[in-house]
Amino acid sequence: MSGTLSPIDKAKFVAAKRAVDYVEDGMKVGLGTGSTAAWMVKCLGEMVRNDGLKITGVATSTRTAELARQVGVPIVTLDEAKWLDLTIDGTDEYDHNLNLIKGGGAALLMEKIVATASDQMIVIADLSKQVETLGAFPLPVEVIPFGWQTTKALIEETLVNLDVLGRTASLRMNGASPCITDEGNYILDLHLRRIGNPRQLSLVMNQIPGVVENGLFIDICDVVVIGNGDGSVEVR
Ligand code: 5RP
Repeated sequence: MSGTLSPIDKAKFVAAKRAVDYVEDGMKVGLGTGSTAAWMVKCLGEMVRNDGLKITGVATSTRTAELARQVGVPIVTLDEAKWLDLTIDGTDEYDHNLNLIKGGGAALLMEKIVATASDQMIVIADLSKQVETLGAFPLPVEVIPFGWQTTKALIEETLVNLDVLGRTASLRMNGASPCITDEGNYILDLHLRRIGNPRQLSLVMNQIPGVVENGLFIDICDVVVIGNGDGSVEVR
């Protein structure tokens, strides 16, 4: 499956390959979204098809659900599964406390619901995602389309009182139209540069009317599996 890969794809692949070692027969598994998570879904598909692994997956996006079906991983809804043993997902940033910024692929809402409904969340990443302080990656915030410009103004106004360096938000676009999430919402990307207090920021953002969820994952991730371009893997 891995063929000849670029160093970055190799790093993602080896992280995914190591993370699926945590998956056991009979488990209910949350399936993340993104290019790294896609390797994990393909690895699980291979284990289902070739080794007879019996698992049930809950997808965090329509993209992931589609891929899971293609590779033979059985999918149910979260309400059917109720609670999951494990979620494996990618990330946009992780810090030394294993706090994350997620949502680069616009799936943060379902990703956070699924990860929170899991006994364990394992993040798969390459070293480029590791940061001293979160915030270089713009923080995605999912907002409802109704009154989104008012919500954006409220967010920017609120940021003035918080420990961040940048204070502007931009509407994520998909070509000439707003990017629409699987739940029919918009994404505002917050250009903060440095987030001094991620926990406080996450709590405050979710108090603003119109905000559905933000991409900060605080105390949700248990393990980070880091792949390197030379094929080595580190687990934290
Ligand atoms: C999607 C996400 C992804 O996990 C995150 O963007 C990382 O993606 P990739 O593995 O492609 O770098 O949060 O909403």
